[in-house]
Amino acid sequence: MIRLFLLAISICTATQLYANIPYVEKLMSKMTIDEKIGQLNLMPAGNIVTGEKIESKTADDIASGRLGGIFNIKGREKIEKLQKLAVEKSRLGIPLIVGMDIIHGYETIFPIPLALSCSWNLEGIEKSARIAAEEASCVGIGWTFSPMVDICVDARWGRMAEGNGEDPYLGGLIGAAMVRGYQGNFSKPTEIMACMKHFALYGAVEGGRDYNTVDMSRVRMFNQYLPPYKACVEAGAGSVMSSFNLVDGQHATANRWLLTDVLRKQWNFNGFVVTDYGSIFEMQSHGFGPIDKNSVKALKAGTDMDMCSQGFINCLKTALEKGEVSLHEIDQACRRVLEAKYKLGLFDNPYKFCDARREKEVVYSAANRKVARDLAAESFVLLKNNQNLLPLKKQGTIALIGPLSQTRNNLTGTWSVAQNPERYETLEEGLKKALKGRANLLCTQGCNLMSDAEIQKGAEFGKTINRIDPAKGKAEALKIASQADVVICAMGECADFSGESSSRADLNLPDEQLSLLQALVETGKPVVLLNFSGRPTVLDWESKHVDAIMNVWFGGSEMAGAVCDILFGDKSPSGRLTVSLPRANGQQPLYYNHLNTGRPVSDSETQYRKYASNYIDVRNGALYPFGYGLSYTTFSYDNLRVSVHNDSVTATVKVTNTGACGSYEVVQLYIHDVYATIARPVCELKGFQRIYLKPGESRDVSIKIGRQELSYYNSDGDLIFEPGEFDIMIGKNSRDLMTKRIVLN
Ligand code: BGC
Repeated sequence: MIRLFLLAISICTATQLYANIPYVEKLMSKMTIDEKIGQLNLMPAGNIVTGEKIESKTADDIASGRLGGIFNIKGREKIEKLQKLAVEKSRLGIPLIVGMDIIHGYETIFPIPLALSCSWNLEGIEKSARIAAEEASCVGIGWTFSPMVDICVDARWGRMAEGNGEDPYLGGLIGAAMVRGYQGNFSKPTEIMACMKHFALYGAVEGGRDYNTVDMSRVRMFNQYLPPYKACVEAGAGSVMSSFNLVDGQHATANRWLLTDVLRKQWNFNGFVVTDYGSIFEMQSHGFGPIDKNSVKALKAGTDMDMCSQGFINCLKTALEKGEVSLHEIDQACRRVLEAKYKLGLFDNPYKFCDARREKEVVYSAANRKVARDLAAESFVLLKNNQNLLPLKKQGTIALIGPLSQTRNNLTGTWSVAQNPERYETLEEGLKKALKGRANLLCTQGCNLMSDAEIQKGAEFGKTINRIDPAKGKAEALKIASQADVVICAMGECADFSGESSSRADLNLPDEQLSLLQALVETGKPVVLLNFSGRPTVLDWESKHVDAIMNVWFGGSEMAGAVCDILFGDKSPSGRLTVSLPRANGQQPLYYNHLNTGRPVSDSETQYRKYASNYIDVRNGALYPFGYGLSYTTFSYDNLRVSVHNDSVTATVKVTNTGACGSYEVVQLYIHDVYATIARPVCELKGFQRIYLKPGESRDVSIKIGRQELSYYNSDGDLIFEPGEFDIMIGKNSRDLMTKRIVLN
C-alpha cells in the first residue's frame, strides 16, 4: 500500500518534471550504493517466467534492486509480471528497461538488414523500424539492440547479414533512418530506444572469423568504419553497445579513447553505453586479467551497463571501497541509465509498453505485412536475366525445386527472435496462391542443404530442413523438371548459415545443391535461380550457365508473396547490391571503395598483369559490383553536367527508361579525390536518388554534394577539405560510370 502511494507520487512528479533531469538527481539522492550498481546490471530473461512462477534468483534480484534491465523475453504478460515486481517490490520502485534484439521486425519480419539496404529506400527502411517499434512497444519492449551498423568487407563473416553492406556513407544514412524510425522523439508510447552497435569495428574481424582480432589504422577507422556509428549518434541514438573485439589493442568495452574521447567528447553522445553479451567476462581470455580489474577498466572507460558478465554487480562495490573507482564514476553510469528510463517515460508509466488492446490490433497486422512484402520485393537483386526469361507467365507447368522451397522457418533469416513461422507462407504455398490454378506447379526438395561430406568436414547447419536420400531426391527433381516448361531453384544458404557465430570459409553453393543445379541446367530447360543468402556468395559457375539469377537473401515473413510479385512481373526488380559479389573465395576482403596501390590494376581489367597488384588466377573486380542490379526494363544515362557553386558541386545527368515497363532506378554519384595528403579510395559513394520512370520517360537527375562529402578524416578524426582535382562520377553502379574532372579551390 505504502509502495503504491510512493509510486503515485513519483509518477506525478515525473509528469511535472518531464524533460527535467532534477527528477533523476532527486531519485539518485535516495539510492544506496547497491541500488546504484544494481541499475548497471542487465540480464537475459528468456526462461525465467513460467506461468505464475518467476525463477527465484531473478525475482530476488529484481525485488532487491540488483537488476536495472532484462532482455530477450517474449510475451507481454511475462514482462508485465517482472515489471510489477520491480515497481511494487523494490524499495524505490524503479522500473526495468526491457530490451530485445528486434533487428528486422518483431512478428512482421522484414528482410534481413543486408537485404533491406539493397532497396536503397531510406523512407521504407525508416518505416520498417517504425513498424518494428510499433509491434514491440505493445508487448513490453522499450529498447531494441538495433541498428547494427558495422561495416564489413569480408563476406566470410556471418554477421554481414545484420549490417548494411560495405559502404560507410550509405550505412550511415540507413543507420540514422532506423534510429529515427525506432525512437521518433520519445513522445509516443510506440517510440522505443535504439541501441547502435557494435561499437566499434566488429565487422573487421580478421579472416571474417567471428569474435576474431581486429587491428586497423585510425585513418581507416575514421574514414571507412566509424562514419555509420557517428551518423547514428547524430540522429540521436539513445544507447550504444560496445563490441566484442579489440580496438588498438584495448578491448572496445574498456577503451577510454573509443568510448569517451571519440564517442562522448568528439561526437557529443549523451546516452548510455551497454556492453555486448559477457564482454567484461571475456576480457580475461583476451589476456586482460581477472574480472574485477576489467570491471573497473570498463567503467572508467565509459561503459555504463554490463550485459551478462555480472562484473559490475559483483565487483564495483569492493572496487569503490578500495578506491579503484570513484562514487562519481558509479553515479555517472547510474545517472545515464536512469536518464534513459526517464526519456522513455517509464517513470511516468512503467507499463507504458504493455498494451493488450494495441497488441491485438498491431502485431502482424495486414497493413504491416503489406509494407514488409513491398520492401522484400524491393530488396531482391536481379543479377542475370538471359533473354528476358523473367518475368514468367502464369501458364504451362512450373517446377519449384530446392531445399528452400518448402521451408517455413528459414525465410526470415538470422535474428528473428520473435518470429511466428506458423503464420508465414512457404515459397511453394506462395506460388500456388499466386498462380491461382492458371499454371501447374510441381515441387520437390531435390537435395540436401549440405552433403554428408560437408557436414563431416565442418558442422551441420540447417537442421530445420529435412535430410533426404540424395540419389532419390535428384531423380525426383529431374523427373519433375522434365515435365516442366521452366524450373525455379530455391537454393543457397538457410537461415543459420549467417548471423552470429556463422562464419564460412567457402562461399560457394554447397556441394549437393550445386550438383543438382548443374544437372537441372543440363536438361536444357530454362532455369531461374533464387539465391538465398545472408552474405555475398560466390556465383561464378552460376553466372555463366544459369539463365536467370536473383539474390533473394532472406526476405522476411512476407517473402513468399514478394518473390511471386517479382517472378510474375507484378513488380519490376529494383534492388541494387550494397556489397560486392566475389568471383572466388580468395578475393576476400573485397570492396569497391579500395585504395589504388602503387601498381594499380582496375576492377574492370580482364587480363593478368605481371608486377602489378592482381592475382594470377582471378581478376580483381567483383563478379557483380557494388550498386549493381537489373530491372525488367533498361535505363540509359547521358549528358553528364557538373557545376560548382561556392561550397557545393551539382552533377546532373539525363536518365531515360528505354524499356517497356515502369521501374525504379537508383542513380548513384561517386567521387574520387585525385591527389590528397592521405591516400583516397578510387571511388566513393556520396549521393544517390531512387527514381521511378515510366517506359520512355526521361528525367534530368541532379545530385548535389557539399564540402563535407568532398572531405576526409585525418587520424585525429578531424574533417579535412583539401582543394584540388576531383573526379565526379555518376551511373547505375560503381563500375558503369560517366566521369567529369573538376578542380575545387
Ligand atoms: C550479440 C548482440 C546482441 C546480444 C544480445 C550478442 O551475442 O553480439 O548483437 O544484441 O547478444 O542478444
